[in-house]
Amino acid sequence: DNNPLKKIIAHAKEYGFVYQSSEIYDGLQAVYDYGPYGAELKKNLKDLWWTSMTRLNDNIVGIDASIFMHPLVWKASGHVDGFNDPMIDNKDSKKRYRADVLLEDKAAEYEKAGEQDKADALLKEMGRLLEAEELDAVRELIVSEGIVCPISGTGNWTEVRQFNLMFSTQVGSVAEDASEIYLRPETAQGIFVNFLNVQKTARMKIPFGIAQIGKAFRNEIVARQFIFRMREFEQMEMQFFVRPGEELKWFEAWKESRMKWHKVLGIPEDKLRFHDHEKLAHYANAAADIEYDFPFGFKEVEGIHSRTDFDLTQHQALSKKKQQYFDTEINKNYVPYVVETSIGADRLFLMTLANALVEEEVGEGDKKKMRTYLKFHPALAPVKAAIFPLTRKDGLPEKAKEIFNSLNFDFNLIYEDKQAIGKRYTRQDLIGTPFCIAVDHQTLEDDTVTIRHRDTMEQERIHISGLHGFLAKSCSA
Ligand code: GAP
Repeated sequence: DNNPLKKIIAHAKEYGFVYQSSEIYDGLQAVYDYGPYGAELKKNLKDLWWTSMTRLNDNIVGIDASIFMHPLVWKASGHVDGFNDPMIDNKDSKKRYRADVLLEDKAAEYEKAGEQDKADALLKEMGRLLEAEELDAVRELIVSEGIVCPISGTGNWTEVRQFNLMFSTQVGSVAEDASEIYLRPETAQGIFVNFLNVQKTARMKIPFGIAQIGKAFRNEIVARQFIFRMREFEQMEMQFFVRPGEELKWFEAWKESRMKWHKVLGIPEDKLRFHDHEKLAHYANAAADIEYDFPFGFKEVEGIHSRTDFDLTQHQALSKKKQQYFDTEINKNYVPYVVETSIGADRLFLMTLANALVEEEVGEGDKKKMRTYLKFHPALAPVKAAIFPLTRKDGLPEKAKEIFNSLNFDFNLIYEDKQAIGKRYTRQDLIGTPFCIAVDHQTLEDDTVTIRHRDTMEQERIHISGLHGFLAKSCSA
């Protein structure tokens, strides 16, 4: 199968990166589990984000807020009333769709057929109707475009309804005491409600930021494209609190800084672009996405939003607690403005994996064959190096284990002594290990080993005492 997304999904499963959740029960839609190499890759991505936020910026600190929050938080943030997707059901198949996604797919069809004007007009009309909440007209548009359900093949549609994306559950043990609470649909609110706690206890002065990594939950109606859109996912968000009037300067600065971050980690320039929002959410005065060229087209990986003082002002109103900061430089009290950077760890994972998967022809003549490998930046690679004794005798395994033990605490390593060495190299290529270290008879004489480089397959000989330094240097971002 040549579908590039299918290749990625198959590779992710076969080599221990991502499995469908509850697979033995035929899975749970839009929920995924990370296997041994996937868990390492995701952890590396999160660690790098956390380190670049909190250590490369001396005015950003991290927190870890809980998933459950007071129900009024979501009233204040606008999620109770406004966090909806327009959905429509096909009466014959009983399948539910997102009305906007049906129309977007139609627009994509026009675009493919070279009818760009038609595509643009359709998206514009859809945007206008959704903005004005004219849901009946959205249905009419779907019908007039002749959109049919791919399962039933009919255009027998129900009305369009708004569907809230928040999951809810009850706290309290007996029904009468129980009150409904939500699983957070974004991590950002945990930062907003702790703004003053952090500012005071960590003695922060504006401008400063608060970073957080954590789970978020959305009852996505259309869950497609593997880990791109999940119902349970992880966000990495940073809220940067600034003086009113300075937010657009910071918005530009964060846009540039975040774009640079992706490039440093190996995403080529031509696969990334900004998408500046023309239509803004009610709380924002500027917004842009960083988009990556996924196998299914350019799609959002990260959002940078200038959220004004909307959230803090809302929390001030509903909690009746002042959310103000006294700025000693200008002798003024104000509710700070906020610029946020928000990225999904899982979506970043998918971008990293999609970008890393390489299939290339190697060898000449009869020896020509396809070689598949994952060209992760060494700082992201799940396993940094594999240690191989050339054979399982003459003391080579003992020597290789000695090397393994001396490095294993600082770097995630694999020790492998089974199979021919070529097969062992291939296996490491498939999980993206940047270096393979081979221990041979010469090692016993002069304490040197060969290092084989994943991308070039070239080998070099280095002294064992240089291995720690070599890995530390090669595997830093
Ligand atoms: N606090 C702002 C906020 O949550 P968002 O655009 O809704 O903004 C930010 O989400 C990022 O979170 C997205 O750019 C994406 O990377 C990730 N994300 C959102 N919904 C997701 C989902 N259902 N599955 C995976 N990642 C998701």
